[in-house]
Amino acid sequence: MPDHPEIPRHIAIIMDGNGRWAKQRGKPRLEGHRIGAESVRAVTSACVKLGVEYLTLYAFSSENWNRPEAEVRALMALLDQFLKDKARELHEQRIRLLAIGQIERLPAKTRARLEKIIADTADHDALTLVLALSYGGREEIVEAARSLAADAAAGKIDPDEIDKELFASRLHTAAMPDPDLLIRTSGEMRVSNFLLWQISYAEMVIVPKLWPDFRDADLDEAIEEYQRRHRRFGGL
Ligand code: FPP
Repeated sequence: MPDHPEIPRHIAIIMDGNGRWAKQRGKPRLEGHRIGAESVRAVTSACVKLGVEYLTLYAFSSENWNRPEAEVRALMALLDQFLKDKARELHEQRIRLLAIGQIERLPAKTRARLEKIIADTADHDALTLVLALSYGGREEIVEAARSLAADAAAGKIDPDEIDKELFASRLHTAAMPDPDLLIRTSGEMRVSNFLLWQISYAEMVIVPKLWPDFRDADLDEAIEEYQRRHRRFGGL
């Protein structure tokens, strides 16, 4: 448990609006992503200070592969640079890095860098930063179903044994608590294939600001909104 139980254990964020932020300023979309990476740094450090245990960021969706090749390449380069710059900071702040999604689809160099940092930070205990990369909730659920079906076909499990816990154990998030708070920036009211199974009981806070403008104070406000709500998990 965190020191302050009112602080959500797990915050998940759909970082939206980088392109619109750039467009409003007559700048290339990449500039929005670049400043968006600054927001990632600010929010990650704020979560360490607040005692949040897990922060999951939707950095690249399965659908994002369909963007123009130049933007995909630029986003991958930005991720690579972020990992390069961030490695020391992760150690200093004792942050553990994890990734969810089809990371085998990432460029080999970026994937190798990611896997090295994941291995090097495995024992850190301040915050677990989870990057959702080439991630899609439906894809994750289909993979879990496929792995259970394969085990059933091989006689390793009885289909009657399959329950919510066993199913969740086959998701990429198997070892993590479900998000308590889901934040989406840029005012859009959509889930966009993010953590479909895991957000069943999450409180959603939609923030009108675009992601590159989202900083510590905005995170504080979203947490305050979360704290004002009475969470009932479907009960009374
Ligand atoms: C959504 O804005 C954002 C993304 C598709 C990528 C998120 C990436 C970053 C914040 C920077 C890199 C991340 C890390 C972890 C270093 P959009 O492009 O969909 O914006 P729009 O809806 O206004 O076009």
